[in-house]
Amino acid sequence: MKPLEILEGFSSLNRGEKQRVAAERTDDPATFKTVLDAFRNQAYGEILDQFSENTVSHYPLPYGLIPNVRVNGRLFLVPAVTEESSVIAAASGAAKFWARNGGFQARVTGMIKEGQVFFRWQGEPEHLQMIFDKVQPALIQSLKPFVERMEHRGGGIRKIELIHAPDILKDCYQLSVKAETADAMGANWINSLLEELAIQWKKKVAAERPTIVPDIIMSILSNYTPESRIKVSANCPVSAFEQPGGTFTAEEIAERLVAATRIAREDPYRAVTHNKGIYNGIDAVALATGNDFRAIEACGHAWACRDGKYRGLTETKVESGIFRISLEVPFAAGTTGGLTTLHPLAAQSMKLLGSPSASELMEIMASVGLASNFAAMKSLVTGGIQKGHMKMHLKNLLLKHGATSDEQQRADVYFRSHPVTDRNVYEFLVTLRTAR
Ligand code: MEV
Repeated sequence: MKPLEILEGFSSLNRGEKQRVAAERTDDPATFKTVLDAFRNQAYGEILDQFSENTVSHYPLPYGLIPNVRVNGRLFLVPAVTEESSVIAAASGAAKFWARNGGFQARVTGMIKEGQVFFRWQGEPEHLQMIFDKVQPALIQSLKPFVERMEHRGGGIRKIELIHAPDILKDCYQLSVKAETADAMGANWINSLLEELAIQWKKKVAAERPTIVPDIIMSILSNYTPESRIKVSANCPVSAFEQPGGTFTAEEIAERLVAATRIAREDPYRAVTHNKGIYNGIDAVALATGNDFRAIEACGHAWACRDGKYRGLTETKVESGIFRISLEVPFAAGTTGGLTTLHPLAAQSMKLLGSPSASELMEIMASVGLASNFAAMKSLVTGGIQKGHMKMHLKNLLLKHGATSDEQQRADVYFRSHPVTDRNVYEFLVTLRTAR
């Protein structure tokens, strides 16, 4: 195995050479190369290669479907990409339960995104404000070439503000830009707009006060989008939780769900895991549709601690025999542009969803997030999460040990009453095979 050293010019090597350099740093170069080549997508490899730098193979994850997601009365078969074995099964179970109980009511309450140009300026803050007020119309006019096409699509700049931030640094300011980007996530558009705004702003300030020029620190969109938000809720009679022969009554289940939500709102350790369960669903749809799940999650976590304490994002209550669950979550997703259009499978996901607008997609994503959270909470407060997890884990272990479909069926029965561990599964298969 070759020791690691600083690699010069790695990005200009061709794919085969990059693979070779990497293979030499493993203990089995031949297998490394074989696996990389086997995973390289035959049909769409050329396209996938271009999405990122130094691509030497492709990394497929399961692309699954969540049936029966009813949002605002419409049923969707929702594509979802996840590596976690129980996510799709759990979300599907919850989606079906809610589809039979009226489905999810979802509403986007805003689609405003924000970008920031941070700069330093050594003059008096009042003077800068005067300059800003004076040049603002000309500043917006100078951005016209950047915004015209977006305006035709229904988006555009909604507001530009000058904000002094002396608590960061005495001479620190930002130009805060609020914008809408129609059906695009719009990150590239906003970033280009901000960079142009920074240039124009600097010029205009210099024209008014040539001796003190703004020092632009950075221009970048914010992934925190509290004004691009989705509210989703679902209601059912408490009696819908009735489980014949179950450990808990329907009322007890409803009460336990309310207690679980309360715990997640108040205890940050629990809240993080609770919210992770929400993003199990949202991220999986984000991935299947080519959206940026890191931005979506980062935004949600910031929102979760907007009052200074990190809290669970869902709420539940029981009133007059009706159980209500709701989720309010900010994020920005798109249905055109970027990977949503370029990735062949993401493009098909959009078709499967009926070519939704960005706001419709956001409603679907938030509904799947709520379904995932409900499924997790319900398992946790009734039988515990491991039962479902272990069922999927068993599947993976059987796969690992090359079980036939007959062996899988026998294992399903046997492991209803035995703990699922790698060793137990292995020994079960050995016993089965030697008995033949
Ligand atoms: C596992 O991926 C997600 C859960 O831990 C979420 C939760 O605890 O609410 C089951």
